[in-house]
Amino acid sequence: MILKITKDADRVWKYKFRNVPALDEKTRQLIRDMKETLEFTGGVGLAAPQVGQPLRIFIADYGSLRETFINPKILTIGKETSGGEEGCLSIPGFRGLVKRPNQLTIEYIDAKGNKKQAKLTGFYARIIQHEYDHLSSVFYVDRITNKKKNLYEFEPIRIAFFGTNDFSATVLRSMIGQATVGEYNIPLVITAPPKLAGREQKPRVTAVETLAKQFDLPVEAPSWLVKKSKTDEKEKDERVINEELIKKIKLAKADCIVVASYGKILPKEILNLPKWHSGYYQT
Ligand code: NI
Repeated sequence: MILKITKDADRVWKYKFRNVPALDEKTRQLIRDMKETLEFTGGVGLAAPQVGQPLRIFIADYGSLRETFINPKILTIGKETSGGEEGCLSIPGFRGLVKRPNQLTIEYIDAKGNKKQAKLTGFYARIIQHEYDHLSSVFYVDRITNKKKNLYEFEPIRIAFFGTNDFSATVLRSMIGQATVGEYNIPLVITAPPKLAGREQKPRVTAVETLAKQFDLPVEAPSWLVKKSKTDEKEKDERVINEELIKKIKLAKADCIVVASYGKILPKEILNLPKWHSGYYQT
């Protein structure tokens, strides 16, 4: 189950987080849900308080570091430091430059209940320190001294998404995940109209429409993807549909268009609409 991510102002951060007494089924389920949530958002680390649980658990998922840290304790920390960029799922829309030690050793219990020790360096050590900080309600922004210079706000990229089938839905799902943490905004989803399917020939909406509705995204299903007879005045139809769609994309203020298996070659007048388009670099 994908869990709701708490923000830095949420109440959970006022609690004192406690060690996990036993690795019972409830805790195992929490860890599974945390993994699913982290994968959905595309982040590299997630601490239990970030999903509303006042427990000393965090997970990491970056490169070869795919690990669960239960009741962690940093044993040693290196003297050498370096600056690196960080963001946080609980503080969407911001990134900052944080100075941290390059190396550490940590003791913890893994998801199978084994007691372990690890020595981590570089970006791995940074992830661990960021998550470990969460377990005492410290955010990366608290570690930035010159916030004017080293903390910056960014606007989400506004995307108009075109897609239809399961493949399209996989792409859209990953973008929705990143939208929940402020990377993207998806003001418009364009898909094909429902198709008659099965023995009873019932109309079935596309995988993209189902997913978009699940996440309350506005969906449009222009009828130009429906096959019509040869005698149809197809071109005229398309012009009208194009114009309507152009209006909607303009209204959505899309920075770019993402197309994943839409089933129709989009006309240039649509592709060149957003701020970032294929012709952008060709002028
Ligand atoms: Ni964080």
